[in-house]
Amino acid sequence: MSLIDSHGRKINYLRLSVTDRCNLRCRYCMPEDGISKLRHHEILTFEELMILARTAVQIGIEKIRITGGEPLVRNGIIHLLGNLAKIPGLRQLVLTTNGLLLEEMAESLKFAGVQRLNISLDSLRPDNFRQITRCGDLEKVLKGIRVAEETGFPIKINVVAMRGINDDEFIDFARLTLTKPYAVRFIEYMPTVNEQGWQALAIPGDEIIERISAQFPLALMDKGALSGPSRDYRIHGAAGTIGVITPISGHFCSDCNRIRVTSSGMAKSCLFDDKEYDLRPLLKPGSENALNEAMRQIVRNKPGKHFLSNIESTHQPFDMSKVGG
Ligand code: GTP
Ligand code: 5AD
Ligand code: SF4
Repeated sequence: MSLIDSHGRKINYLRLSVTDRCNLRCRYCMPEDGISKLRHHEILTFEELMILARTAVQIGIEKIRITGGEPLVRNGIIHLLGNLAKIPGLRQLVLTTNGLLLEEMAESLKFAGVQRLNISLDSLRPDNFRQITRCGDLEKVLKGIRVAEETGFPIKINVVAMRGINDDEFIDFARLTLTKPYAVRFIEYMPTVNEQGWQALAIPGDEIIERISAQFPLALMDKGALSGPSRDYRIHGAAGTIGVITPISGHFCSDCNRIRVTSSGMAKSCLFDDKEYDLRPLLKPGSENALNEAMRQIVRNKPGKHFLSNIESTHQPFDMSKVGG
C-alpha cells in the first residue's frame, strides 16, 4: 500500500509529537518563561497514539519518528515505544531527543525497539550550550550520547546553525566526525518563534559547507532509502559524516515524504502550512475507516512547497515545541 500525494510524492514518514513539554528552553524554540503548555487532557493518550500509528502504517507509513517537546519527559514513553515497535509493517521507529535523559534511558529505548536516535546539540562548549538552551548541562548530554553509542545506537546530531552564536564551532563539530561515527547535520535556522530579525541568524547550508571544506575537503555521499532531507558529506577517512538540512535555501520540498501530527492530535501536512486538521475525534475504536480516509485526504492536500524558500518572507509563527520539528 502506497500513499501518493497530488504532487506525485510518496509519503511514508510520520513525525509524531508525544508532548509539548521540555526540560530545556532553547532560544529558537521557546520563550524564556516557557510556552503555554497543553493540559494533560489535551495531549493524546497512549491508546489514541496507537490507533493513529496503526492506521498510518496500514495506509502506507513505513517510518515513525517520535518527537516532542522532549519525548523522553513523557511518563510511560518506553511502554508506548515498545508497543509502537510491534506494529506489523512499521519498518523504522526512530526518535529525536535533546539527550538530557539518555544516560538513564538509552538501554530501555534500545530494548523497546527504537532503531536510531537524533540528538539536538547546538554547542560543544558548556557556556555556549547553557546560553542557547538557557539551562542545559552539556556534560550530561555528552554522557548521554556516549551511553547511547555504547548501547549500539546509530547517532545523528542536529546542530541548528546560528550566525554569531555557534558558527565559530562548525569546525569543532566537523572535527568530531573524524573519530566518532556520528552523522552531524547542520540545520538552517527557521523562524518558528515570533522573532524579528531571524534572517540575521540564518546561515545558508552552502556557506556552512564552504566554511568546513576550506579546512577539511568533503566528498558528497549518496542518499539512503527512507532518508530525511539532509545532504551528507564525509571528510576523507572520517568515521562519521557531515550534513546540511536546508529548509530555507534548499529545495527539498520536491522530495518531501512526511506528514506530522502534534501532541494534541493536529495533523500538519507541511511544517510551514498553517492549516491543521484535528484527528482527535477520529482516534477511537470504530472510527478507523473515517481516520483512514481523513489521513489520505491530508496527504492529498499536502502543499507542493512551503513559502519560506524566500529568505525575506514572513509567516505566522508557530510553536516548534508542539510540532516537533
Ligand atoms: P532522519 O533523516 O530520519 O534522521 O530524520 P530527519 O532529519 O527527518 O529528522 P530530525 O528530527 O532530526 O529533523 C532534522 C531537522 O530537519 C529538524 O530541524 C526539522 O525541523 C527539519 N526538518 C525535517 N523535516 C522537515 C520538513 O519537511 N520541512 C522543513 N522545513 N524542515 C524539516
Ligand atoms: N530552526 C531550525 N531547527 C530547529 N529545531 C527546533 N527549532 C528549530 C528552528 N527554529 C530543531 C531542533 C531539533 C529538530 C527536531 O528541530 O534542534 O533537532
Ligand atoms: Fe526542548 Fe527541542 Fe525545543 Fe530545545 S528545541 S526547547 S530541546 S523541544
